[in-house]
Amino acid sequence: MRRKGFFQTWPLCIVIAFTLSAHMATGQIRYSIPEEMTVGSFVGNIGTDLGLEPKRLVSGKARVFTADGSEYVGLDKEKGDLIVKQRIDREQLCGELSACSVSFNVILENPMELYRVNVDILDINDNSPVFPKGEIQLEISEAALPGAHFSLESAIDPDVGFNTLQKYTLHPTDHFNLNIQSRADGSENVEMVLQTALDREKTTNHYLTLTAVDGGKPQRSGTVKIHVLVLDANDNAPVFSQSSYKTSVVENAAKGTLVTTVSATDEDESNHNIQYYFERPSATVKALFTIDSESGEVRLKGEIDYEKHKQFKIKVTAKDHGGLTGSSEILIDVIDVNDNTPKITIMSFSSALPEDTGIGTVVAMMNVQDLDSGDNGRVTCSIDRDFPFKIESSLTNDYSLVTDSTLDRELTQEYNITITAADRGSPSLSSKKLLTLKISDVNDHAPEFQQQTYNAYILENNSPSMSIISVKAEDADWGPNARVSYFIADGDLNGHPLTSYVSINSDSGVIYAVKSFDFEQLKSFKIQVKAQDGGSPPLSSNTTLNIFIQDQNDNAPQILYPVQTSSSVVAEMVPRSADVGYLVTKVVAVDVDSGQNAWLSYKLQKATDRALFEVGAQNGEIRTVRQVTDKDAVKHRLTVVVEDNGQPSRSATVIVNVAVADSFPEVISEFTNFNHDTTYSDNLTFYLILALVVVSVLFIFSLIAIISVKIYRWRQNRLFYKSAPNLPVIPYYPPVYADGTLQRVYNYEMCGTTDSRMSDIKFVRPYSQNTLVNMSRAGTVQREKKEQEEDADLSIEVRNLFTVLIYLAFSGIHCSHFGPQNRTDSCYD
Ligand SMILES: *[C@@H]1O[C@H](CO)[C@@H](O)[C@H](O)[C@H]1NC(C)=O
Ligand SMILES: *[C@@H]1O[C@H](CO)[C@@H](O)[C@H](O)[C@H]1NC(C)=O
Repeated sequence: MRRKGFFQTWPLCIVIAFTLSAHMATGQIRYSIPEEMTVGSFVGNIGTDLGLEPKRLVSGKARVFTADGSEYVGLDKEKGDLIVKQRIDREQLCGELSACSVSFNVILENPMELYRVNVDILDINDNSPVFPKGEIQLEISEAALPGAHFSLESAIDPDVGFNTLQKYTLHPTDHFNLNIQSRADGSENVEMVLQTALDREKTTNHYLTLTAVDGGKPQRSGTVKIHVLVLDANDNAPVFSQSSYKTSVVENAAKGTLVTTVSATDEDESNHNIQYYFERPSATVKALFTIDSESGEVRLKGEIDYEKHKQFKIKVTAKDHGGLTGSSEILIDVIDVNDNTPKITIMSFSSALPEDTGIGTVVAMMNVQDLDSGDNGRVTCSIDRDFPFKIESSLTNDYSLVTDSTLDRELTQEYNITITAADRGSPSLSSKKLLTLKISDVNDHAPEFQQQTYNAYILENNSPSMSIISVKAEDADWGPNARVSYFIADGDLNGHPLTSYVSINSDSGVIYAVKSFDFEQLKSFKIQVKAQDGGSPPLSSNTTLNIFIQDQNDNAPQILYPVQTSSSVVAEMVPRSADVGYLVTKVVAVDVDSGQNAWLSYKLQKATDRALFEVGAQNGEIRTVRQVTDKDAVKHRLTVVVEDNGQPSRSATVIVNVAVADSFPEVISEFTNFNHDTTYSDNLTFYLILALVVVSVLFIFSLIAIISVKIYRWRQNRLFYKSAPNLPVIPYYPPVYADGTLQRVYNYEMCGTTDSRMSDIKFVRPYSQNTLVNMSRAGTVQREKKEQEEDADLSIEVRNLFTVLIYLAFSGIHCSHFGPQNRTDSCYD
């Protein structure tokens, strides 16, 4: 190359040399040589060019002188040749100056001669364009717009002229073009211009080659690699993985529970740091949820209540660092949890109910609410026990408690009804309500006596106002309905109101006697006692009280026969021919008491001849004990004691005269001589006759009076009494003894009848009841009791009168009959 350069510039050098040679002495000469000639290369011959003899050069001691001492060119004195002594690099010597020369002086001595030699250094293309760096790194954002300029460092070629940098080329050119601008200073500004947009997502790195070429021959070039790194521009918004996120969360879930995780991706690689947030969240959402801006985790922050919110719709936004956003929504279904117990509200309740309340009566109305939904809020209402109530549902959530069967306060006074409302959740929640229902009383029970009948026994001769018995009736009701009062039912007994016999304490039920009872008058009676409660209307019931009056031995036996008179002239006849066991007579006695008190026994207390007679202890029969002999006295006097069996016992005595004789005169004589008094005067007879007359008249009057009374008492006959056939007829107490003994408890009968068939004989039969009552049973006409009592009184009077009159008459007849000598014997005895 250097050779070529040399040859190119060579003719030019010669021209300059000749120009210089015209001025000798101090002439100058100019040569041109290319740079970079090898050391020793010929530059010019000054001997020739300056016209100097080679001898002169030697003698003149020609030499090269440079002011700076540089020695690029040397002188060969012998030949007069200038030769390159040192490498000459034009770029080093002159830089960018295109005209470059080396000048020095050639000095000759003897004589001094000075020649100026200029050697122009001609450029050769010895330098390639060079880029400052081997590689150019460019970072260009993909967002750069077409037309954008990117400066490149230009290449440098130290050569000058054509040898220096001429043009640049770029390869490839699909995105960039070159734009080369010349600056004012002549330098060039190399720029890359973006032609089409870059896309980092397609190609991240672009490799280009920039070539700089000079104009030398041969041409030299330099290249530089350009590495274009496409910088990411935030050209992609974050995109959520789902357009909406559906999830669910159970209510009451713990705080911090992960609800869901949202995630968005951004194709911009440099924008991975996506931030998440809720987009304009409501206050509720803010209070309940949080979103982790980094991870996209949505968590619970507050307490979720299904009853308040069943679903949440939250808009969520993802934002990259470039500010681009993407959005999605989260749909959160709240799952109901059975967390609400049913609530029972009593709307109305009647706390007391009468026991006669009908079936189906509403006792209470209540409302049950359960805030949960579905089965968790479906409530059933029930009562816990087998009570006579049931729950009815009228409307949704409204229930009523109604009676299901009849109520009975006497069975249950109070119900504690527990109402349970339970939902169908799992586990089920329930609540209870206690209702205390009182059953109020209705007077539906009558008092009930403890006994159907009461029997009371009371001893006769009781003190009036003595308590007899206490009756009691219970009433199952309550309060006034159970307050029992006692009454004696109205009724009569023997013509007197029952209340004149007994009274009752209406509060206590104690029954008192009102009067003293007489067993002989009244043996028993019954009363109805009524118990009545205080209800309205009142209820009542009855009981029968049988009152039995018990006998006391308050009556002594009464001797009915033989009739006791003061004279006791009545005598029983015993023929002397009587055998052993001959029935002389029979002592007849009665005791109006009954039972043991009326059980009579007979005893011979005194006798003229104890060996001759005996008395039957049971029957009172006086019989002979042995054969009567002629020696036996005519007159016998027996004292018989009749005793009852009461405690203490009561007794009566009777004197029985017995005459042992074959004929009546014998008896008369015997008896009239008993108490004969010979001192009676004759005129006594007159008195006796007078007395007889008076008595007879009285008797007739009495008869008339009695008949009058009888007529007045309608046609009622008086009682007639008749003794047993073997006994003498006596006008007095006429009991008849079938076998002559008193064997039965009740043997006394007072008969009164108008019926002639019934009037003659009354047989003894046992009685346990009031005589009068039994009379009616026996078929007799029952009269009014009062009348009977009056009749009884009258009969006693008449009886007494009869006794007196008959006795008197008997005495009178007796006295007059037996003559004066014995007229006094028994008349005044
Ligand atoms: C009902 O409950 C009350 C108090 O809770 C109690 O005093 C009463 O004895 C109960 N009644 C019944 C019949 O259980
Ligand atoms: C009670 O007795 C009276 C009369 O004796 C009668 O009228 C009434 O019906 C009776 N009452 C009852 C409940 O037996």
